[in-house]
Amino acid sequence: MAKEKTYFACQVCGSQSPKWLGKCPDCGGWNTMVEERNVPERGVAASYIDSATARPTPIGDIAGEGEHRSSVGIGELDRVLGGGIVRGSVVLVGGDPGIGKSTLMLQAMEELARRGGRVLYISGEESARQIKLRGERLGASSSGLLVLAENSLENILLHASEVKPDAMVVDSIQTLYTPTISSAPGSISQVREGAGQLVVYAKKTGTPVFIVGHVTKDGSIAGPRVLEHMVDTVLYFEGDRGHAFRILRAVKNRYGSTNEIGVFEMKGAGLREVSNPSEIFLAERQMDVTGSVVVSTVEGTRPIMAELQALVTPTSFGNPRRTAIGVDYGRFTLLLAVLEKRVGLHLMGQDVYVNVVGGLKVEEPSVDLGLISAVASAFKDMPIPYRTVVMGEVGLGGEIRAIANAEMRAREAAKLGFDRCIMPKANLKKLPKMKGIQLIGVERVEDALEALLG
Ligand code: TYD
Ligand code: MG
Repeated sequence: MAKEKTYFACQVCGSQSPKWLGKCPDCGGWNTMVEERNVPERGVAASYIDSATARPTPIGDIAGEGEHRSSVGIGELDRVLGGGIVRGSVVLVGGDPGIGKSTLMLQAMEELARRGGRVLYISGEESARQIKLRGERLGASSSGLLVLAENSLENILLHASEVKPDAMVVDSIQTLYTPTISSAPGSISQVREGAGQLVVYAKKTGTPVFIVGHVTKDGSIAGPRVLEHMVDTVLYFEGDRGHAFRILRAVKNRYGSTNEIGVFEMKGAGLREVSNPSEIFLAERQMDVTGSVVVSTVEGTRPIMAELQALVTPTSFGNPRRTAIGVDYGRFTLLLAVLEKRVGLHLMGQDVYVNVVGGLKVEEPSVDLGLISAVASAFKDMPIPYRTVVMGEVGLGGEIRAIANAEMRAREAAKLGFDRCIMPKANLKKLPKMKGIQLIGVERVEDALEALLG
């Protein structure tokens, strides 16, 4: 008998090597190479697909059906998908274990079933009874919602071809198993093969398929790089378990804008949509606290206002500490250097902490000025006026640069009852006067701090 060929595959990036290596030469991960066997023959499980093969066609002759979208019925999910699910699209939903992926998927399927659709929810993690129990909490009882507890890829495809669902969920890709590959479920080749077959199924039958994937400790879906390019849309479900807020973020979308986010709140009876996130993120804000400022971040088509907090305390020994949650760390240290050099704040002997309230991540440059103002306010122990919002990108010279969507942000601020907006002078010139809010244009960091802390 011919000797069976094995190779070693990195479980993080998918890189292969004929020999075992302690460190992956591609992604640099330690101890990630695992022995795997024989590459499978392609197309084994493809019997459910009709045999008509595609032909090269001039682009103008292709029947334009337009995008076939249907609304899921959960507004925030529809928004992140770019306005509903597209026929034949494959959506990867990633997130930490326990964040609420299964809950979201079950709720979405229930909504679709309620509108008369027939949907298939497949779980390899929970038994049908467990899913039923969860369903009871969520009020899921539509007869069009079919549940299958299964982890064999072949059986799943067989059932799917019989049921012909209008949408399908596979929860999770890590539990999927096909005997054509001898490595364990969750290994990179199983994950890749499973996802590959599901993509073929979706494209050939036009069924939208949601694939749930757990994220590993280092923040990647097992073999994420290999999955992300196979699917049409990648959504990440974020938020920490200490907060009830969950943010659904599109990181790749062939059918819509990325950067669009959906906001949910985890309740006793499942996830509830939050359609006005600014109010929630600002709900517990207190008056006259130093180091607190309101910034505005645009996520997709929607401005969201959030509270940014800074705390500055003397360093007790050694190097000063710098901790940033919810903002980009590199930008944070860069802005501290600007404060040190251009404004003359002596932060060398101070520990500086910043945090975005509510578990939100704001990584746009337009929050630069807010960050600087929060740190300056904390350092000088002077509060920033309560109804003031701050926006602007800060350059290394201490200059304040124009930002995108200034008008949209200012209008949102006015709507929420803010009466003063500090913004880049370059933006102000192009804006009409607004009712109820005073717009103040600034050119340099020093001017902004003068306007805020006087
Ligand atoms: P789950 O959807 O199982 O997470 P995942 O599939 O991402 O691993 O969500 C699990 C958490 O959500 C669990 O800690 C309990 C909480 N939860 C609620 O608070 N309310 C609910 O109605 C449900 C179903 C779950
Ligand atoms: Mg789950």
